[in-house]
Amino acid sequence: MNRQLRLGVNIDHVATIRNARGGRHPEPIRAARLAADAGADGITAHLREDRRHISDEDINLLSSRIDLPLNLEMAATGEMLAIALRHKPHAVCLVPEKREEVTTEGGLDAAAGHRHLEPYIRQLSDAGIRVSLFIDPSRVQLAVAKALGAPVVELHTGQYAESGDDNMTAELDRLIEAADYAAELGLECHAGHGLTYGNVGPVAAIPTIVELNIGHFLVGEAIFGGLDSSIKRMRALMDQARAEATGSRSA
Ligand code: PXP
Repeated sequence: MNRQLRLGVNIDHVATIRNARGGRHPEPIRAARLAADAGADGITAHLREDRRHISDEDINLLSSRIDLPLNLEMAATGEMLAIALRHKPHAVCLVPEKREEVTTEGGLDAAAGHRHLEPYIRQLSDAGIRVSLFIDPSRVQLAVAKALGAPVVELHTGQYAESGDDNMTAELDRLIEAADYAAELGLECHAGHGLTYGNVGPVAAIPTIVELNIGHFLVGEAIFGGLDSSIKRMRALMDQARAEATGSRSA
């Protein structure tokens, strides 16, 4: 099995369903354990300022009761920094956050916000947390991420995922070029947002991307076939695309 490409399973929308009734079911921690058994390499959770899905208690549990590395997505705010420094997750992915948005709509504007971001990246890194910046696939953003000392970038695949047939190749080319440039700069490159069974292959085939973070589609598909099955199928599609791209078919 080709394991160069990691799968981070984002469990935010397990919490969305739980919160629809305000009770405990379905529990994100249970989804995280199941994801581990199904082949996830990490768990990703976004603690939003408005706590619309993942809660502080979820982060307590995910930090202390699972063996997989936790990737905490958060906005660069004082409140979130304090939470991250208390839990010290394996990784923090800094994302832009607007209260009114339905989901993370675009990447961080690291270029415009570099003065604001710098102390967050420094304090998180000093605490031993691997920091990534969620950015659009642009050379300018990548160069600023490098200058800021972030070791990792996560390329926003939303525009690729939402592009129609006419634009898909151009959006994929942007991702390929950005991933190449990230490698040239010595940045570890992740990608995510809006990935599905249908569009994951070409992204998984980009050889310098080492991690995909996927959530909404996996949780949605779990309604029809179970979370174990949706994660395993995604994992298999990723591995197949990567193996074909590198010419080393998985067993
Ligand atoms: N990566 C980041 C930084 C995100 O904010 C999200 C969405 O929360 C994802 C990946 C996963 O996106 P999706 O839920 O569309 O798979």
